Amino acid sequence: MTKRLLATFAMAIAYFSATHSQEWISAPTQDGSMPVFHKTFHLSKKVKSAVLHSSALGVYTLQINGSEIDYSELKPGWTDYRKEIFLQTMTVPKSLLKGDSLSITAQISNGWWIGGITRGVYGNNNRHAFICDIDVTYTDNTKDRFITDTSWQCATDGSLLLGDIYNGETYDARRKPTHWHNAIINTDNKGVLIPEFGPQVKIRDRKLWKTVADITVYEGSIATGTTYGKINNQQLIGPDGHWIKTFNTYSEKHPTWIRLKRGQTFLLDFGQNIVGWIRFTARGNRGTELTWRFGEMLNYNGDAARLDKGPAGSLWTYNLRHAKATLRYIMNGEGNETYHPRYTYFGFRYAELTATDDIDIAANVTGMIVGSDIEEWGTFSCSNPDINQLYSNVWWGQRGNFVSIPTDCPQRDERLGWTGDTQIFSTTALYNSDVKDFYRKWMRDMRNGQRDDGAYPCTAPAANMWGYGGSAWGDAGIIVPWNVYVMTGNTQILTENYESMKRWMKHCAEASEDGWTHIGAETDFGDWLAYKEVEKRYVSYAYFAHTADLMAKISRLLGKNDDTAYYTALHHNIVDEFQRRYITNSEINTGKDTQTAYLLALHFGLLTPKQRPAAIESLRQNIINNSYRLSTGFVGTGILMETLTECGLTDLAYRLLLQRENPSWLYSIDQGATTIWERWDSYTKADGFNKHEWNMNSFNHYSYGAVVQWFYSTILGIRPDESAPGFAHIILAPHFGGGLTWAKGGTMTPHGRIDVEWHHLDNGTYCYTVSIPKGTIATLHLGNRSIEIKGNGKKHKYNVKTNITVR
Ligand code: BGC
Repeated sequence: MTKRLLATFAMAIAYFSATHSQEWISAPTQDGSMPVFHKTFHLSKKVKSAVLHSSALGVYTLQINGSEIDYSELKPGWTDYRKEIFLQTMTVPKSLLKGDSLSITAQISNGWWIGGITRGVYGNNNRHAFICDIDVTYTDNTKDRFITDTSWQCATDGSLLLGDIYNGETYDARRKPTHWHNAIINTDNKGVLIPEFGPQVKIRDRKLWKTVADITVYEGSIATGTTYGKINNQQLIGPDGHWIKTFNTYSEKHPTWIRLKRGQTFLLDFGQNIVGWIRFTARGNRGTELTWRFGEMLNYNGDAARLDKGPAGSLWTYNLRHAKATLRYIMNGEGNETYHPRYTYFGFRYAELTATDDIDIAANVTGMIVGSDIEEWGTFSCSNPDINQLYSNVWWGQRGNFVSIPTDCPQRDERLGWTGDTQIFSTTALYNSDVKDFYRKWMRDMRNGQRDDGAYPCTAPAANMWGYGGSAWGDAGIIVPWNVYVMTGNTQILTENYESMKRWMKHCAEASEDGWTHIGAETDFGDWLAYKEVEKRYVSYAYFAHTADLMAKISRLLGKNDDTAYYTALHHNIVDEFQRRYITNSEINTGKDTQTAYLLALHFGLLTPKQRPAAIESLRQNIINNSYRLSTGFVGTGILMETLTECGLTDLAYRLLLQRENPSWLYSIDQGATTIWERWDSYTKADGFNKHEWNMNSFNHYSYGAVVQWFYSTILGIRPDESAPGFAHIILAPHFGGGLTWAKGGTMTPHGRIDVEWHHLDNGTYCYTVSIPKGTIATLHLGNRSIEIKGNGKKHKYNVKTNITVR
């Protein structure tokens, strides 16, 4: 954080502790619609400026004198509300400060405070609440301060009947709040208000929005001999009853209008699995109810054996589990009605609409992307369109799962800050975008959720889902700050979390079983979802060794010499015990020949130099014997490609990247993926939907997208140097291969951009061009040359002859 930001932060805290007299207010009843709070203040003189501080228990929107003043969404975001809640501070625009009154209206909804997503962690009978404080400075420099108290009015008969993260939104456009009551003071919440920081959730840049790629109208289904048959397609017709042959889905002003009749279903395809909400315009009779449902996939042929749940071509929502993810809109019948929700979000490629009466709807329904407003700076493209598609899929996975916190998935009744997923994807996200403060904020959630015995929660903010600890999951508490440090050079995240990290390490160090005393964290998840799973205890040893090693480095950096000695010794002891437990005759012996066992031992340095060659060879053989396919889960896949390159097996890594059989990245693309899926075979054209017994089958789960780290580090060759972090010294180590004839891309560093471009010229000769920022130095490893480059922001060009053949 800059000095200026720090000062603002300190001022805001000082301000709050000195003047904290405003109160949380609630509605006297939780019955009825989502509460609206309102008050009009009299302004005694001409106003020079007004600053508003506000927050809510639940997600809220705010109006001043009838206008929105802030365009961030899903405020106040998700933090561990038991400990802290973000406070938004906004300067009221001058244009709204006319007249002698100031009226404030706030709409509150469930957000992350009430409902399924909390899993009762904040209490069971929570009430929505609002808090606000407006500081007015008059032109004569005198001041007024308006606060929330029981003189505020509250109504629960407004238009928002439901706003809930999992279940969606219900809006009755006929209703307006009319029965106002005095608000009551709410003392439910024990969390402290702190100034918000990190990226806010916003409606993302228009460039990302999606228009409708295809529209289908159908009525009921027709039998085809399968369980559910198929949808009974109807012709698209316009308001005048004429058939529509082509329709305009783009135009703001002149969209094609389509008639949807009662009993029919309208199915929209946005062509891309996205996260956010839709905006639509419709005309119909007052009281007509529109029901929108959202899903990532369609039923294929209506066959229950494929886990289809409806007729071929209809919306498949089975993987949402208990999340209703439904938008209901009740029309006021006053001409064109345009609406988009604001109190929920959906993960979808398809949207389905039905209505209780005939309506006309404009074809320009828009898929608006909603998520943490993070600057996207990573770029990559190459000569293979499938790899480019994979890169795009990973991006959509990141966008869709960075919504206030890093989530596992954006659609089903989960959407939680799963720690393992977060650590696995963190370096990719850091190459892709400006996520330093996003992760700093999330690490607060980790600290706030940390149990007294030092165990980190499995999901942060803690949501009582799977409890605490878990190797490779809880270890995120060490790994994420470390990755942020290496990629940005920022030590603040290490300092902020150091004491908490030590408590996690102590938690791990205290664990023992059957006489083994360096076993590490709990064995909850192992190599989650692997086709061939390694013993879970083995994973916890590997991660414990890795985090002890990182803690030795971190403590050294922070000048904590006693700790360095302790963690160095700890690391030594863990590796020693690992060796005694898992190495027989110099070879890894876990009773099962799994890729992840080799990867962990090689990547985390658990083997002696003498043992490494055999492990590398076994890994190579394992992949070959598996027909050049991986068999790793979240943990193994997260380090797979980097480790192969570290071990001199980059050709094999390229082969895995280009593999099209199950499991592989391109396999899911061949099955139609536009995002990264939770499982390699979440859906297969041959057999349909994955039949995991808990129906854990998300089509937007970014963990396997960690492969993109390798696109930057190895295809482009841009690597940080942990001894000069934040790319002060850049290691450039491109590996040509995979039949690629060119690749280009880059990332941003604290010093400026690094951009790379390479081409295959002829007969194994490549031309590598790079520009690095001023003030940095790079060491370029090209063929058997090492070249020192001084950064001047200009392009440097090198040719290299290799023995690679490109067909
Ligand atoms: C989540 C995962 C998570 C896992 C832990 C799942 O429900 O979706 O991504 O890491 O649980 O095993």
